[in-house]
Amino acid sequence: MIQHFRFGQPLPTDSVVQEIPVSAGPVPFLTAEEDGWAYRMAPDAIVYGLGEMPRGINKRGWHYVTNNTDEARHSEDKLSYYGAHNFLLIDGGVGRECFGVFIDFPGKVRYDIGYTEYDALRFATEEPDHELYIITGDDLNDISRQFRQLIGRSYIPPKWAFGLAQSRFGYKTAEDVREVARQYKENDLPLDMICMDIDYMQDYADFTVNKQRFPDLAALSAELKAQGIRLVPIIDAGVRIDPENPVCAEGLANGFFCTKADGTPFVAAVWPGKAYFADFLRPEVREWFGRQYKALTDCGIEGFWNDMNEPALFYSPERLKAFFESMDELSRKDNIVQDEFFGKVVGGALGLMNAPEDYASFYHDVDGQRVRHDRVHNLYGGNMTRAAGEAFARLRPGRRTLLYSRSSFIGSHRYGGIWLGDNASTWAQLLANIQMMPNVQLCGFLYTGADLCGFSYDTTPDLALRWLEFGLFTPLMRNHATDGSRMQEYYRFADMLPALRKMLRLRYALLPYLYSTFMKAALENTSYFRPLGFDFPADPDARKVQDQLLLGEGVMVAPVYTQNASGRHVYLPEAMKLYRIRSVDDYDTELLPAGHHYVRCALDEVLLFIRPGHAVPVARPASCTAQLDDTALTLWACPDENGSARCRMYTDDGETSDFAAPEHWKTLELN
Ligand code: NOJ
Repeated sequence: MIQHFRFGQPLPTDSVVQEIPVSAGPVPFLTAEEDGWAYRMAPDAIVYGLGEMPRGINKRGWHYVTNNTDEARHSEDKLSYYGAHNFLLIDGGVGRECFGVFIDFPGKVRYDIGYTEYDALRFATEEPDHELYIITGDDLNDISRQFRQLIGRSYIPPKWAFGLAQSRFGYKTAEDVREVARQYKENDLPLDMICMDIDYMQDYADFTVNKQRFPDLAALSAELKAQGIRLVPIIDAGVRIDPENPVCAEGLANGFFCTKADGTPFVAAVWPGKAYFADFLRPEVREWFGRQYKALTDCGIEGFWNDMNEPALFYSPERLKAFFESMDELSRKDNIVQDEFFGKVVGGALGLMNAPEDYASFYHDVDGQRVRHDRVHNLYGGNMTRAAGEAFARLRPGRRTLLYSRSSFIGSHRYGGIWLGDNASTWAQLLANIQMMPNVQLCGFLYTGADLCGFSYDTTPDLALRWLEFGLFTPLMRNHATDGSRMQEYYRFADMLPALRKMLRLRYALLPYLYSTFMKAALENTSYFRPLGFDFPADPDARKVQDQLLLGEGVMVAPVYTQNASGRHVYLPEAMKLYRIRSVDDYDTELLPAGHHYVRCALDEVLLFIRPGHAVPVARPASCTAQLDDTALTLWACPDENGSARCRMYTDDGETSDFAAPEHWKTLELN
């Protein structure tokens, strides 16, 4: 059951698709306080949700603010990342209530989940006007299903988007891109996508192509597509200021950019230097911006990533000027003392980026109302995704287009996936990736993944391999790195190459199960990844697990995420069959009883657990998704007490949007 409460006159967000009548009655479970809502947590209560946020699967013990932020350093002390996912799923404790809370609000929401007082959960919206949905049901799985129905069907990418994507901030020419394709082929590594970061553009201007470095994008795209590889270019939120550029000129002429208090367009610098920012909250602006993608779809491009759309602001000219002026004064001083150095020089420079004062200095037009940006900040990036998603439905009707974004809010999950932003090449970030996945997917973002190997810093070959051993299960499987970091395409690691190759091939072999699980999750509002506590709510040990995930109906994964480990502790809430896999053709199996185990797992092995009565269809590996033959399947299985095991498999052409046909489904059975 979903109860809907409204306080004041909230601004519209378009997050929900189901109309639930507003209830007058008291809000169950929560207590109204002077400044927000409170819930008293039992000692064993668990709080799931909040999507893309730091810390564990259980959000208890920290505080958070949904405030979409270009956060370049991911660490436990952070309060916000790129997305606003205001959904909490509260498991009140064994034998107690469980319920979902969705706070539908476009600005900041602050959460204190046992940070000030370990037993108290509190949250408050920055302004009093908000909508609140309370969801109750049979169990956590049922509540999350109802929530997903409320917010609408999750975005479904083409099937090739489940292949490997190779990316790097630093591929500068068509030759760089060709070289990646060549190396993957020569090294017999499968590949489906090469992502193009900002260097393909002319002066970092959206919807342009640098003709010197990419003389014929359409030809390059066709040449790679013939090899089963799609190009996936980036589009940034900021539109380069250049009167000669038609996108800039058109946006300006039509008044499509966000404006300052005096009505002139708001300006801030991002990659291209000074830029304008389209007012994505207006339908006509979305329509116009979305139309621009045609410049690239006309070149045969079928997938995009939207970036910098929190929006990230490097600086505003006004604040930079003020900073330079203050430096000018300081530069005349003979001795700059500590406070001045750290406060004014260092703090002043760092404070130029993503400054709250800048977010409070420009305006949107929301249904004819002039609204200051910071009040609706969290809707910005997601509406850029919406602009693109709506455009693709017009530009490529009936066909699926790949789209993932950095910034998001609940609602934009209907138009695209997300990637988890600028992580780092550390083991802690591999664990963070494992822990973030179920919470992000709980909030509707099924097509998700983190930058494998890590984005910033230098990765190591063993981290690349261990991370892939988890990444091969994530819907978006993309290796991406920042400019200047160690090169990390999988062919760079000579000594690990055989193992990396086997793991990549394993991903393709497992696609019948992974793709079917994804499609089931999207079409039936079930889960792809979920914590163990969802299926074993009365098992105190299962509820505590923070580093294993259930994957669809039949599988549990337990990735190794510590360096130099030769195994790990695994908790089994029920007997399961362990597949310890070196390659699709080389694995050993063992039926393990319920309970605590130390499970060996060498660097070149991955652990896959199959639940009783379930089977996993396994295909022969392929060099790209187009080559995958899902008719010749082997079943890996854990038979139940009657000796049978089954799985439901989904097959379609992977490219069109006719999802509903019943013939897509078939049941495979082992007797
Ligand atoms: C920030 C994005 O998060 C990152 O993935 C990208 O490489 C850079 N922008 C450059 O475009």
